[in-house]
Amino acid sequence: MKRCVTAVVGCKWGDEGKGKIASLVTKDSQFVIRATGGSNAGHTVIYNGKKLALHLVPGGITYPNKIGIIGPGTVIDPKVLLDEITLLKNSGVTDIEERLKISGRAHVVFPWHKNLDELHEKVKENPIGTTKRGIGPTYSDKATRKGVRIYDLLLPVDELEKKIREDVFLHNQLFLANNMEECVVDSKEFATIFSEYGKLLKPYVTDILPILMDAVSNNNGIVIEGAQAYRLDNDDGEYPDVTSSHPVASGCLLGASLPPQSLKIVIGVDKAYNTRVGNGPFPTELPSSIDKNGNLITGKTMLEGDVIRELGHEYGATTGRPRRCGWMDAVMLRNAKYACGVDVLCINHLDTLGEIGRKLGYIKICVDYYYMGKVIHYYPDDTNLTHQIPEPIYVTIEGGWKIDKSMRDFFSLPESAKEFIRIVEKASEIPVKFVGIGPANDDIIEIF
Ligand code: IMP
Repeated sequence: MKRCVTAVVGCKWGDEGKGKIASLVTKDSQFVIRATGGSNAGHTVIYNGKKLALHLVPGGITYPNKIGIIGPGTVIDPKVLLDEITLLKNSGVTDIEERLKISGRAHVVFPWHKNLDELHEKVKENPIGTTKRGIGPTYSDKATRKGVRIYDLLLPVDELEKKIREDVFLHNQLFLANNMEECVVDSKEFATIFSEYGKLLKPYVTDILPILMDAVSNNNGIVIEGAQAYRLDNDDGEYPDVTSSHPVASGCLLGASLPPQSLKIVIGVDKAYNTRVGNGPFPTELPSSIDKNGNLITGKTMLEGDVIRELGHEYGATTGRPRRCGWMDAVMLRNAKYACGVDVLCINHLDTLGEIGRKLGYIKICVDYYYMGKVIHYYPDDTNLTHQIPEPIYVTIEGGWKIDKSMRDFFSLPESAKEFIRIVEKASEIPVKFVGIGPANDDIIEIF
């Protein structure tokens, strides 16, 4: 067995720009895999000068000859997937039927999962702010052993209907009890619709294990294109403000059906400033014009968080929601190093942070926390108990910087940008291997 897997994982709350670095490392690999989550993720890929918004298919499929896999740890909304396949084909991406493999073990997201997602949020005193893509309820059905898998969509329609009937039996009672009659599921109707989706997906559905067994024994490069991020992990994140899968590196291996011995390197991805959508603690968050429901309050003076949002175009790729914005938290990266096995970092938006510094006159980096009367150097996991959020201790860099595309290595970067990178490396104890300096696919500097 060869160590041939590169896992690209988010270090904070998602939207770190994993797609771009995953695409870069996919160039030297043969396989690219989505292992966790579903259409709650959003990766934008530039193909032939056109922006393609992908939610399920790994972005690396746009390279000719690469094999894209959607692993068994994912949850798939068939309609979203079929639309994406059509988009890729219409955009000129070739041989999709030969190059896209969908694990039959992945679970199916149905419309009632989205209705349940809404209902769960409605009855919570502190809603999570989910993407409403039905992710939690689908994983929940999977955990209670009544989920429907992609393989099931290929069964004769009466067998699929039986599985759907079992799945929705309790959900229907819940809908009725909550005056949501319009959401009650007719299993026959959905079996017919989803059986049709099954026919369309059939060419792609397969047992991915033999493919990966060969890949790992032949040392073919495999890239796991992580979705969501470490702080949203169901075990390792700030429960309950998390997603329902395991985006950490070990969860990605599991969700891809890859053995731990195949892992070569974990690239942790972060932004030079930090953002979060949805609720939950964010120690370095800056004041901004977002209300408690996550909506933008217009017509107010720009606050520090608004400056970051506007300069970084920080609006959700999946939901369009304005993101909460704040300074780089290097302490949390240290947690990521251990919980996620991060070997090297890719820090995106170094150019944007320079502009933020130029606009505000300063840049801050959180290098320690003050928590419960002590200085600590990790994110504690008992904040729900103490009702305290760690207070950031910052190092400040005066002003900002300007990056132009002629800067192709670490040494050509402005002095203060280099200082920023060194501070992050020291506080996180992780070497920075890549920095993103612009939106294009090749706007990445590799540091040797
Ligand atoms: P869910 O995954 O839709 O259940 O949402 C749970 C939490 O994860 C919410 O705070 C979402 O905003 C967040 N989340 C889920 N997927 C992503 C993502 O791809 N990027 C950023 N946040 C995400």
